[in-house]
Amino acid sequence: MENEYRIVAENLNLVYRIRRAKKDPNPRSLHALKDISLNVRSGEFLTVVGPSGCGKSTFLYILAGLIKKTSGNVRINGQEIKGPALDRGIVMQAYALFPWRTVLKNVEFGLEVKKLPKRERKSIAREFIELVGLSDFADRYPYELSGGMKQRIAIARALAYNPDVLLMDEPFAAVDEQTRGSLQAETLRIWEKTNKTIIFVTHSIEEAVYLSDRIVVMTSGPGKIRGIVDVALPRPRDEAIKNTKEFASYRNKVWTLLQTPCERTEKVERIFDYTELVSRPQDNAI
Ligand SMILES: Nc1ncnc2c1ncn2[C@@H]1O[C@H](COP(=O)(O)OP(=O)(O)O)[C@@H](O)[C@H]1O
Ligand SMILES: [Mg+2]
Repeated sequence: MENEYRIVAENLNLVYRIRRAKKDPNPRSLHALKDISLNVRSGEFLTVVGPSGCGKSTFLYILAGLIKKTSGNVRINGQEIKGPALDRGIVMQAYALFPWRTVLKNVEFGLEVKKLPKRERKSIAREFIELVGLSDFADRYPYELSGGMKQRIAIARALAYNPDVLLMDEPFAAVDEQTRGSLQAETLRIWEKTNKTIIFVTHSIEEAVYLSDRIVVMTSGPGKIRGIVDVALPRPRDEAIKNTKEFASYRNKVWTLLQTPCERTEKVERIFDYTELVSRPQDNAI
């Protein structure tokens, strides 16, 4: 039954049009996603791993409503995706906070869009800033925060307007290893507390195994699903689980899938000299 699923994608395809150098003005195309079919359960923690360029961000941007699919179906809560909406929160790799707003005002942003009264906005924003452990920093500006703190605020901002689905695009790629570990733990804690459906893109296999209920392994040229790994590790999880035999065996499983050469069913043209990216959303778009 489709109702069990928060997100349903059927034969989803995305073809980018690419304009080449001036001497060759004919548009070319790049098949970024090919026949992606995937159901995501309500409350599931799903990660997507794969090499750079395999279409992970493209998939997330389609779910976010920032890019229009070329063909196929994709529904959230049974509805076709028409554009960005407050039922989905996004956390990007680049922190994407508004530099001219304080932490509190950043977290209030989605609540302003929802037209909540000022007092309510403030109290909800404070609650989520507390959830990510940064209550003492509510009146600071983003430039006063470390990378890890900025990303905590980005998570608080995305959660504050209570989306069903949280889309996270390599959110911890730019922070140091230790901060990354604590952000992962915090993400799990928040997920367990809030029951969100999370789709989390990473290229760290270890991060994927640690966080996920399921891991979607993608390959590039064109971007396809290579396999899906169910991670049956017990929850709640903590750092220690990373040293277990079971953890290592999941890591190997994903690694092997990534290494397996895919049967080339079509000749894929590589285009290196495109000069302009078309329809790519701003990384800091909400
Ligand atoms: N706006 C765009 N126009 C043309 N090609 C694009 C655009 N955005 C991404 N691509 C290409 O599509 C493929 C998938 O990109 P992306 O989704 O960013 O991959 P990933 O996030 O897995 O690294 C890559 O080959 C990339 O160069
Ligand atoms: Mg990406």
